Amino acid sequence: MILAIDQGTTGTTCLVFDAEAQLAGRGYREFEQHFPRPGWVEHDAAQIWDVTQAVALEALDDAGAGPGDLHAIGITNQRETVCVWDPRTGEPLHRALVWQDRRTAARCDELRDAGREPLVRTRTGLVLDPYFSATKIEWLLGNVDGLRERAEQGHACFGTIDAWLVFKLTGEHRTDVSNASRTMLYDIVGGDWDDELLALFGDIPRASLPEVLPSIGEFGTVRDGALGEGHDGVPVCGIAGDQQAALYGQGCLDPGLGKNTYGTGSFVLLNAGDEAPTAPPGLLATVAWGIADRTTYALEAAIFVTGAAVQWLRDGLGVIERASDTEALAASLDGNDGVYFVPALTGLGSPHWDPYARGTIVGLTRGSTRAHLARATLEAIALQTVDAVRAMEQASGQPLQELRADGGATVNGWLMQFQADVLGVPIAVAQIAETTALGAALLAGVGSGAWTQSDVASREGERARYEPRMGAGERSALIDDWQRAVQRARGWARG
Ligand SMILES: Nc1ncnc2c1ncn2[C@@H]1O[C@H](COP(=O)(O)OP(=O)(O)OP(=O)(O)O)[C@@H](O)[C@H]1O
Ligand SMILES: [Mg+2]
Repeated sequence: MILAIDQGTTGTTCLVFDAEAQLAGRGYREFEQHFPRPGWVEHDAAQIWDVTQAVALEALDDAGAGPGDLHAIGITNQRETVCVWDPRTGEPLHRALVWQDRRTAARCDELRDAGREPLVRTRTGLVLDPYFSATKIEWLLGNVDGLRERAEQGHACFGTIDAWLVFKLTGEHRTDVSNASRTMLYDIVGGDWDDELLALFGDIPRASLPEVLPSIGEFGTVRDGALGEGHDGVPVCGIAGDQQAALYGQGCLDPGLGKNTYGTGSFVLLNAGDEAPTAPPGLLATVAWGIADRTTYALEAAIFVTGAAVQWLRDGLGVIERASDTEALAASLDGNDGVYFVPALTGLGSPHWDPYARGTIVGLTRGSTRAHLARATLEAIALQTVDAVRAMEQASGQPLQELRADGGATVNGWLMQFQADVLGVPIAVAQIAETTALGAALLAGVGSGAWTQSDVASREGERARYEPRMGAGERSALIDDWQRAVQRARGWARG
């Protein structure tokens, strides 16, 4: 059996697959989100480990995996989020700074004004934005008492969530190349931490960063009791960031194949083959995965808040009880009546990259109800995807034929139909909504020799298909109004 750990932004999912890559067991738990100030988002790394450990045991139990049954472990994770811990005690030295956190926006402006963006862009394929790990590590070094001294003495380890879990599971300080490519400290062509970037982001000590391995590699073996009884010594042999793992899990192994994952945020990735693409403005070039000495790249559009806006309706506003309530509410209206919600709750990512944008609801009247809010939220998920896909098509010169979809929000049929309508191409929804976890399992399965790459590419995986039904006039009117709403959300926060 193979255990896949998907440590997401909202919760941890663990799936256990049998030798035929069939799902044998599962577990899921949410964990706490911390918002200490406007624009700041933190997670408790110790809680993430506790929840992950508990969910992994639940999934193994569910699959009836006894001593000796577990063959390999794959890990996939929310990307860019930074953990820091003391390697001697294994205790976190600060809460994890989450990818959505905007506290370093002014620092990014300063670096941009100093003309440093071209260096960052060519070396890493990324945009100089607080989203990525580098300025978060710099912030921790500058703001946590004694952290710089510790880091210089080798008593502080930085890492993305995968590295934190690998450390807790195996005691090794290692990460994979796809996660490294999201730190803004990694040279995606040269294939190493970049000294110039380490210096630029406040002299980050190289020794405080993990060793970078290919996505299929020997990350370590489970140490004494880290996964309960009977699983000591099992190797962690596949790791990729969640979006890259989903691309792999969707079987997008050839150039030109792409997908969108509807989770906390949404991320459109297009396999770009063996050479790092030059990403046009608004898009990212990133490492998809490394397998042996071959690196595969992807073009990416990162949309920060999609499913998280649904969570906000539930937890922030309290206008729905469950995420799934949005479906009936949206369907209860014949149209949006001119109400748009731009969910820039943590700024805007692709293709706008505006860390100062904030959530904006426009078009409210006396007749507006929570149904309008629910519908506007689902529409915004789809309309942001339209913006991302159009930028991608421009970059690649290839019109999209269909969009492969996965992630938690793909269970929402109204959303998927609206997505097909506003995008104008069919949406193919994956059999396993947890394609991210599947991707991690497949990487680990290939890594441990249980499966081959061609098994991965040839998996059958479509659960449902949504064909576009909307007329061109209606579609372009919706998109025009959406774009006017986006303009109103931009540049709102003062810093
Ligand atoms: N029926 C639904 N309609 C709309 N959104 C939904 C529905 N069910 C779940 N969601 C949204 O899907 C998201 C959860 O999806 P998923 O489990 O793929 O995310 P995650 O793994 O926690 O996040 P991420 O992968 O971005 O780190 C939540 O934000 C939730 O609001
Ligand atoms: Mg996820």
